[in-house]
Amino acid sequence: MASAANASFAPASGGWDPEDVSFPSGFAWGAATAAYQVEGGWNADGKGPNVWDTFTHQGGDRVFKNQTGDVACGSYTLWEEDLKCIKQLGLTHYRFSLSWSRLLPDGTTGFINQKGVDYYNKIINDLLANGVVPMVTLYHFDLPQHLEDQGGWSSDAIIDTFDSYAQFCFSTFGDQVKLWITINEPYIVAKDGYERGIVAPGVVEPGTGAYRTARNMIKAHAKAWHSYNLLFRRTQHGFVSIALNSDWAEPLDPTCLADQEATKRYMAFCLGWFAEPIFISGDYPDVMKSQISARSAKEGYQSSRLPEFTEEEKMMIKGTADFFALNYYTTRKVKHQENTHSEPSVSRDREAEQIMDHSWPRAPGSSWLAVVPWGLRKLLKYIKDMYNNPIIYITENGFSQRDFAPLDDTQRWKYFRQTLLEILKAIFLDDVRLKGYFVWSLLDNFEWTCGYSCRFGLFHVDFENPALPRVPYRSAIEYAKVISKNGLTKSTDEL
Ligand code: BGC
Repeated sequence: MASAANASFAPASGGWDPEDVSFPSGFAWGAATAAYQVEGGWNADGKGPNVWDTFTHQGGDRVFKNQTGDVACGSYTLWEEDLKCIKQLGLTHYRFSLSWSRLLPDGTTGFINQKGVDYYNKIINDLLANGVVPMVTLYHFDLPQHLEDQGGWSSDAIIDTFDSYAQFCFSTFGDQVKLWITINEPYIVAKDGYERGIVAPGVVEPGTGAYRTARNMIKAHAKAWHSYNLLFRRTQHGFVSIALNSDWAEPLDPTCLADQEATKRYMAFCLGWFAEPIFISGDYPDVMKSQISARSAKEGYQSSRLPEFTEEEKMMIKGTADFFALNYYTTRKVKHQENTHSEPSVSRDREAEQIMDHSWPRAPGSSWLAVVPWGLRKLLKYIKDMYNNPIIYITENGFSQRDFAPLDDTQRWKYFRQTLLEILKAIFLDDVRLKGYFVWSLLDNFEWTCGYSCRFGLFHVDFENPALPRVPYRSAIEYAKVISKNGLTKSTDEL
């Protein structure tokens, strides 16, 4: 049933045509970046090293051609160029992250790097002067190396250190910034950074590392949210959340009970791991707890490899997000998988195999990215139903191209357009309270282990040219039209 707020969009008669409706007024149109991926200036003006500086400088072919973010898009000196792109698109919102070690070189408030503060103040002031709302991420994968040397997210001490950093940012920038993300994709940091070790800081600790670090990230997020709530909300009136990535998942055989249960586990071990404690109960999903505890017992552990929260911690964690920040890229089919392997891991604990349907197109730049726009609509509805109908922002969504992709990226724009159609259906047919959409990414940039071989930007960056010129892809031009109309234009006009 359409809500009262959305009723005026209902068709007078006949079918509902998403091409004839506008997005709700005030819808946030954004694009996103992250400090390490765009800034460069890795040791400029007193910035301290972070785990990605270390990881890339160590070489060892863990990153495509051993590339680094030392220069990246040069946004540390070329911010004005980024601003031109933002204005050309007509964005209402821009999401970017603060480099923790640019502000606090050793990660603590013991020493503050004023040059870093000045840089971010300029970005924030310029955005606001141009009518663009900043959404600021405190931590997007680039932990200060000094903190990693003390155990990083594995150490309980990080919780207070993160809280101090968050409070420093709220008090320094919070008069101007009203939308905050504490941590970007804790799932990726935990699983790929501290279990598989395929991204920085490259720690390999199968079966335990991810659970311990995720727990600390959840507690650090919750503590920072409480600090905002107690010390800053009354005067700053902002909103704080955490950006959670999730696939949408469906049973490989929808009639098979085992596949249905495996699909529930897949969602619980990905989104539920963080969303259930933060939005619902203060605790992990039951299926995650029972699954890991049973498997740990079989493996001879004295207690579950998933450390429990105390009752006090649960109280502290529950309800610590002011909106739901979702990063969506892809969808999977899921099949029950009996686990016989000896080495434990998050993937094995969930006993669910992920499968890519061959009929789904793939984004040319990323083998993992099956393009499934309808998966986003289903995921939004799932979040609405599972997590008490929260206000949602899609804080990342995008499609990668190869290195040599043409500026006329018609196929990619088709994907964006299909995605926006699904979003309209989610808003008007499913009554999802979706308030904004951020494309990943504003610019082609350093795509972690893929280096510069994979391009997610709305603007092409020529990394061979020292001036690092930004040139719009067709997707940027089409996106600007959608933003200015606050709706889609008829497909025949577009493609
Ligand atoms: C991350 C981005 C990344 C993007 C595409 C997300 O996981 O937040 O930093 O570039 O996906 O892989």
